[in-house]
Amino acid sequence: MRFDIITIFPDIFESYLKEGLIARGLKKKLIQVKVHDLRKWTKDKHKTVDDRPFGGGLGMVMKVDPIFRAVKAIKKKKSKVILFTPRGEKFEQKTAFKLKKYDQLVFICGRYEGVDERVAEKIADLKMSIGDYVLMGGEVPSLVVVEAVSRLVPGVIAKEQLLKERTTKTKGYLEYPQYTRPEVFSPRKGTNWRVPKDLISGDHEKIKKWREKRERTIEK
Ligand code: ADE
Repeated sequence: MRFDIITIFPDIFESYLKEGLIARGLKKKLIQVKVHDLRKWTKDKHKTVDDRPFGGGLGMVMKVDPIFRAVKAIKKKKSKVILFTPRGEKFEQKTAFKLKKYDQLVFICGRYEGVDERVAEKIADLKMSIGDYVLMGGEVPSLVVVEAVSRLVPGVIAKEQLLKERTTKTKGYLEYPQYTRPEVFSPRKGTNWRVPKDLISGDHEKIKKWREKRERTIEK
């Protein structure tokens, strides 16, 4: 699985990709993430990526031509080109499962003030929103999708974790609550936060029941 991210802020991604399971997945070549500076595909000496809107109005609009050249240079076969916008289709766990089937995902990170509509109409295969709120651009949404899809790639997270998700009766993806030591935590005198007694009973049947009752599902 390869992710190509087109952005005017490539530095945003650097530290994120250096940490944790994503970094490990990259090192083991289970996933690939390439961040591309959109300015590379500009042709003027100021490397202009936006311009004033036709018809007037506040703010600037990201130009279609550098984005077109970037996608053309980056896109390979069996890929999807995704534009992040709050007007897009809602990204959900089931979308992550669908996207995992592609060899390459190309993300266009628009700044929310505006992207020339021809990008949405002619260049993007999919318009995607990560939720009903307005962010300042597609950079954080693209990281959300990188993370949600990467953890479905075999080997990126521990095998047991994925297996657990596949075998839960509910086919849900949200697990039962977990606890670890200490059994009793006292944040202040006279107050005790206890681990549910069934979980420390040593009775496997009780533990199973307790967990099954609390497995949460996000399927509607
Ligand atoms: N750009 C701005 N807001 C967004 C959102 N909620 N989802 C995806 N892209 C966005």
